[in-house]
Amino acid sequence: MTFKEQFDTYKCYINDKIEEVLNNIQTQPKLKSALAYSLRAGGKRLRPLLFIATLDSFGIDYNDYAKLAVAIECVHTYSLIHDDLPGLDNDDYRRGMPSNHKMFGEGLAILAGDALLNLAIQLSLDSVNSKQCLDAIKLLFDYSGINGMLSGQACDLYYENKTVENPEFVLNEIEELKTGKLLTAPFLMASLIASGIHYDDFYQIGVLTGRIFQLSDDLLDAVGTFEDLGKSIGKDAVTGKLTAISVYGIDGTKKLIDETYLSIIKILKKIDNNSFFIDFYDYIKNRNN
Ligand code: IPE
Ligand code: IPE
Ligand code: MG
Ligand code: MG
Ligand code: MG
Repeated sequence: MTFKEQFDTYKCYINDKIEEVLNNIQTQPKLKSALAYSLRAGGKRLRPLLFIATLDSFGIDYNDYAKLAVAIECVHTYSLIHDDLPGLDNDDYRRGMPSNHKMFGEGLAILAGDALLNLAIQLSLDSVNSKQCLDAIKLLFDYSGINGMLSGQACDLYYENKTVENPEFVLNEIEELKTGKLLTAPFLMASLIASGIHYDDFYQIGVLTGRIFQLSDDLLDAVGTFEDLGKSIGKDAVTGKLTAISVYGIDGTKKLIDETYLSIIKILKKIDNNSFFIDFYDYIKNRNN
């Protein structure tokens, strides 16, 4: 199978599992519409995809962890709904469609985000089949919560329009927390389920994945198009965000993307069954959405 075929196979699998979960939800109709709207709006599904791809590379049957994969995407989608709210980034578009609060109003968007986080907890608890799996779930909520993504989002907000003495350091901290943690979690969850295989290598790969991913997200905000990205562009500069572009400029950011890519490949070479991942980072390095 080519990389593209494997990627699409994983992605279709995740989308099917998301549909199964959505079909079983019974709640207030507007709330269901709002949460289903954002989950179905598309998205690259990278976080659950990395989780099942890593399990697959260990020879573990990822069908046993389908609900946990959906849980990861629910956490990510909730983070995007809340990230777009007027109190955070105030973005009108996401995944090529009006953002959740533009479609359903702010109140329901807050509740849809809450509901997805709650659903993620339920799906995770439904998936527990071993002590290792429970450890993986603890890591998911640790890395997406106050020790991870939420802390990064709070930093991102705090440093808006502020003069910073050591911008490289602060930016690195923001990247690692707001984006890196939820991109590290899938690798480490899979490693924990496999009793810790390559844990330290995957930890480093996860941190670098967050870095390359947020560097390219910041770059695309400056040089990408709405058609490719499905979200508003040029907003980071307008809102005074501390980003790779504000710290390193466009060329400096491109250089860092290349350097980060090489660091990732170096670590990957130590890992068995790495061919999917090697191609994955080629795709990430060159992505336009
Ligand atoms: C966007 O994540 C938020 C960041 C961490 C930069 P993605 O680019 O993975 O968003 P979707 O899931 O594909 O919409
Ligand atoms: C968001 O970073 C990261 C999250 C935790 C949601 P951004 O605010 O840069 O993501 P986009 O550009 O809105 O997707
Ligand atoms: Mg943001
Ligand atoms: Mg944003
Ligand atoms: Mg961005």
